[in-house]
Amino acid sequence: MGFQIAIDGPAASGKSTVARLLAEKLGFDHLNTGATYRAVAVYLHEKGLSPSSAEEEIENALKNLKIDYVNGRVYINGKDYTEKIQSPEAGVLASNFARLEVVRRHLVRIQREICDDKNIVVEGRDIGTVVLPNAHLKIFLTASLEARVERKLKEYQKRGLKVTKEEVERELISRDEQDSKRNVAPLKPAEDAVIIDTTSMSVEEVLDRILKLVRERM
Ligand code: C5P
Repeated sequence: MGFQIAIDGPAASGKSTVARLLAEKLGFDHLNTGATYRAVAVYLHEKGLSPSSAEEEIENALKNLKIDYVNGRVYINGKDYTEKIQSPEAGVLASNFARLEVVRRHLVRIQREICDDKNIVVEGRDIGTVVLPNAHLKIFLTASLEARVERKLKEYQKRGLKVTKEEVERELISRDEQDSKRNVAPLKPAEDAVIIDTTSMSVEEVLDRILKLVRERM
C-alpha cells in the first residue's frame, strides 16, 4: 500500500496549491477530487440534467461516463473539461450535484480506484472521513472567510474572469454552508485530522508544517 495524504477543508482554504506543491516535493501523485465533482456536474448539466432530476436518469448518465485524471487535467469520455470547470458557476453546480448520494457513490468509487496502492496527495471535502479513512496523514486546512475570499478573487482575476469581491464572498458562503450541512459526507474534519489555520501563514510555512508531519509518519 502506498502512503496516502488526505487534505480536506472549505473552499479556497489553500488545499489545491498546498496539495500540488506537496505532491511535487514528495514525488507523489496528486488528485483534486473537487475537479472530478466539477467536471461531472458540468457534464450532467450539459446533458440537461439537474440535481432534482430522477435518480435513475442521473445514474444512467453516470454509468455511461468515463473519467480520467491525468497530470492535473480532467477528461470525461476523452473530452478535456479542465478549463470550463474553473468558473464560479461550475463551483456552485458541483456543490449542488455533490449533495446527491448517487453522484457521491459513483465518484468515491472512481477516486478510490485512482488512489489504489499509490503514494498520493488527495484533496477534497470528505477524503479523511469517507474516501480514504485509513490515510496515513489527514490534514484539515481552514482560513478566515476574508482570507479565502481574497485568495479566490486573485485566482479568478488571474484566469481573466470578471467577478466582484461580493460575488466571490456569496459563492464561498453558500457552497460552504451547503457542503457542511448536507446529509451525505458533509465537510468536517476527520477525528484524527491535524487542523491547520492558514489565515496568516505563507504557502511555504504550511508546506513545512505538513512535511514535518509526513516525516514523522513515514
Ligand atoms: O474543491 P472545489 O472547490 O473545487 O470543489 C467544488 C465542490 O465539489 C465543493 O464545493 C463540494 O461541493 C464538492 N466536493 C465534494 N467532495 C469532495 C470535493 C469536492 O463534495 N471531496
